[in-house]
Amino acid sequence: MARIYLSPPHMSGEEAELVRDAFASNWIAPLGPHVDAFEREFAAAVGVPHAVALSSGTAALHLAVKLLGVGPGDEVLCSTLTFSASANAIAYEGGAPVFVDCDPATWNLDPALLDEELWECARRGRLPKAAIVVDLYGQSADHEPILAACATHGVPVIEDAAEALGASYRGAPVGRFGRCGVFSFNGNKVITTSGGGMLVSEDAEFVRRARFLATQARDPAPHYQHSAIGYNYRLSNVLAAIGRGQLRVLEERVAARRRNFDYYREHLGGLPGIEFMPEAPYGRCTRWLTCLTVDPQAFGATRDDIRLALEAEDVEARPVWKPMHLQPVFASSRVRGGAVAARLFERGLCLPSGSSLTGDDLERIVGIVRKAHRGGGQLRARPAKP
Ligand SMILES: Cc1ncc(COP(=O)(O)O)c(C=O)c1O
Repeated sequence: MARIYLSPPHMSGEEAELVRDAFASNWIAPLGPHVDAFEREFAAAVGVPHAVALSSGTAALHLAVKLLGVGPGDEVLCSTLTFSASANAIAYEGGAPVFVDCDPATWNLDPALLDEELWECARRGRLPKAAIVVDLYGQSADHEPILAACATHGVPVIEDAAEALGASYRGAPVGRFGRCGVFSFNGNKVITTSGGGMLVSEDAEFVRRARFLATQARDPAPHYQHSAIGYNYRLSNVLAAIGRGQLRVLEERVAARRRNFDYYREHLGGLPGIEFMPEAPYGRCTRWLTCLTVDPQAFGATRDDIRLALEAEDVEARPVWKPMHLQPVFASSRVRGGAVAARLFERGLCLPSGSSLTGDDLERIVGIVRKAHRGGGQLRARPAKP
């Protein structure tokens, strides 16, 4: 039986046609008409006026942090439950991340804790330069109170929507709630260009500046002249062609991931000790990844028992992100709260969630998890502690 991956690429067929066009026109080198069209089409899909296509979501985060003026020693607030790229961008500019715990009801940044941290910073007379708010696992953060708290102190927000393209918040697509929004087209995302990213904003000058820095900061001159340090962060025309094909099937991809989630919930939701990541009432979660937590006592096996049982049958599953405040590289960073994210990491599991999963795949996965429950992993066999 073929290995089942966590979240593999899922092409529609249209991408190959668009890539052929890039080859036929010899627009192989960076930039070209597919890049321009991808930016336009993507901006329209997210409902923002300006977008710049980049080589990765990480590059987009880096430019966002840089353009908000983060420099050595500046603090930047950041969701602790996220992938490292969210926080690394702060470090690239010498900034100091300050991590904030998540709300168990959404798994996203806790607005009340963020507010507390901002007031504490204000009391100290040292406000953060920015806040990076992550839309985790396809679910929007609760942006209204977050933006209100940040606005009170004049702190700009970077919305890291890398995992949440296609999600909505109060009826509007994610990615447009902060000063700028960041997306990723990494191979495991809802849509992919094999690797790529997008920075979007309402602010034309912000995006113009990002485009300039991402294109080696070339001043307008016939020779190569530079008055700023630039980066080689643009997306190639070939990859943008893939992105255009993928964007056309975004809604179908989201629907398929939500169907995966419904299947898992129907077939696993009744098991003792299993709880799925809740869908917040304020928006649509894409269920980019189906995530659940396992209470080992109630379920009779640990999260890792399940993960290893799946692996033994050639099925890839992953623990929920290890929070940034527990990462060795950020050991010296401040954190507000942290216990909620730590517990989600300890018990959380991401099940295979690709939009190309078949009914047979899902049945196979569910069967293994149910067997881990019946078998009780090693846990039931362990003698109770005296
Ligand atoms: C929350 C988050 N931010 C940023 C990134 C970075 O995006 P990329 O891999 O395109 O650099 C990722 C994942 O890839 C992510 O999950």
